Amino acid sequence: MEEHVSLVVNRTSIGDAELRRAAMSPLGDGQVRLRIDHVAITANTITYAQFGDLLGYWGFFPADEPWGLVPAIGSATVEQSHVPGVDEGTRLHGWYPMATTVDIVAAATATGLRDDGPHRAGHAPVYRAFSASDRDPLATDPADDERHSLLRGLYATGHLIESFLDHRWPGVTQSVVMSASSKTAIGYAFAARRTRTTTGVGPRLVGVTSEGNRAFVDGLDLYDDVITYAEVPGLEHVPTVIVDMAGAGAAVAAAHRALGDLIVHSMIVGKSHHDAPPAAVAGGPQPELFFAPSEVERQIAEAGAGAYTQRLAAGLAAFIDHSRGWLEVERRTGPDAFADAWRQVHAGAVPPSVGVIASMT
Ligand SMILES: NC(=O)c1ccc[n+]([C@@H]2O[C@H](COP(=O)([O-])OP(=O)(O)OC[C@H]3O[C@@H](n4cnc5c(N)ncnc54)[C@H](OP(=O)(O)O)[C@@H]3O)[C@@H](O)[C@H]2O)c1
Repeated sequence: MEEHVSLVVNRTSIGDAELRRAAMSPLGDGQVRLRIDHVAITANTITYAQFGDLLGYWGFFPADEPWGLVPAIGSATVEQSHVPGVDEGTRLHGWYPMATTVDIVAAATATGLRDDGPHRAGHAPVYRAFSASDRDPLATDPADDERHSLLRGLYATGHLIESFLDHRWPGVTQSVVMSASSKTAIGYAFAARRTRTTTGVGPRLVGVTSEGNRAFVDGLDLYDDVITYAEVPGLEHVPTVIVDMAGAGAAVAAAHRALGDLIVHSMIVGKSHHDAPPAAVAGGPQPELFFAPSEVERQIAEAGAGAYTQRLAAGLAAFIDHSRGWLEVERRTGPDAFADAWRQVHAGAVPPSVGVIASMT
């Protein structure tokens, strides 16, 4: 009989991950069984684990403490369904545990299905939704499935950051992007370039990265300037927004010290440098967390849901195409390779030119 394999992560020490094997149990009433084809593992997945308690990520797929199942973005197929309106064979994009399969209490929706498990009630609708590839307005060519899993959520964040900043601070001169080699940052830079090309206006994009990733970021040709973290104190003294995917407290503090009130907005997006200690910020406004759902609401209220989705879909398709020039998809197959992938991404040992796609089988 087939066994269920999952990768659990120690909530108190997220670099520690262990494989678990168990017998499969029969599917319950009102449930669907999803066979997980693959998931993407990026710094974003590590951040879910790091902020699992604070932001509720450990609650997506409950496990016995101190172990947890980290949600990861990917693709699955409905293998068995006890839910009317959910057909076996349907392919779905969404958040999955790092495992062979997952059984969820589901309800059919117009665009796929929704996880209706009682433990999911407190989670944002976007995290409970699985989009069926035959009805998904953001679907791209099935041949690009892995790039889609790697880039969709990260690009959408970059795209929304761009529109948020463009709306609130249209004339700002400079945008300083920390962890410029991350896919989310590249998504933002790509969206900002597109707007600048269309409208003729937009900030100068300054990418801040580690010395080892500088050549990669330069080669993207998306940022106007590329500097290292150590060079932050030399930033040009002009009205600036900070877009921080790194969470490297010292770098943000250095930017604030250097530019003070010239900073019009300082945005916290991520913590790819998950080990970096926080630092107090003096000078300019205090950094604020970016909350993507509010920006989605604003755009839908302003332009309508159709226009919002159409613009995002066009941007995502163009970004996936663009990624062929800088992102190589690397497949890790089998439980051990999956576990190694987690450890390597956690350790920052995967170069920015590589996108890791993992599957248990
Ligand atoms: N708030 C939101 O809604 C939202 C949405 C999407 C993403 N994010 C956040 O954005 C961040 C980037 O995510 P991503 O998936 O786009 O990242 P990614 O593509 O996997 O980024 C890789 C880059 O992150 C830095 N990095 C990764 N691991 C590191 C480590 N252990 N030590 C030091 N640096 C490390 C390096 O960049 P540098 O050398 O250039 O620093 C590396 O090239 C994550 O923290 C994620 O949670 C937030």
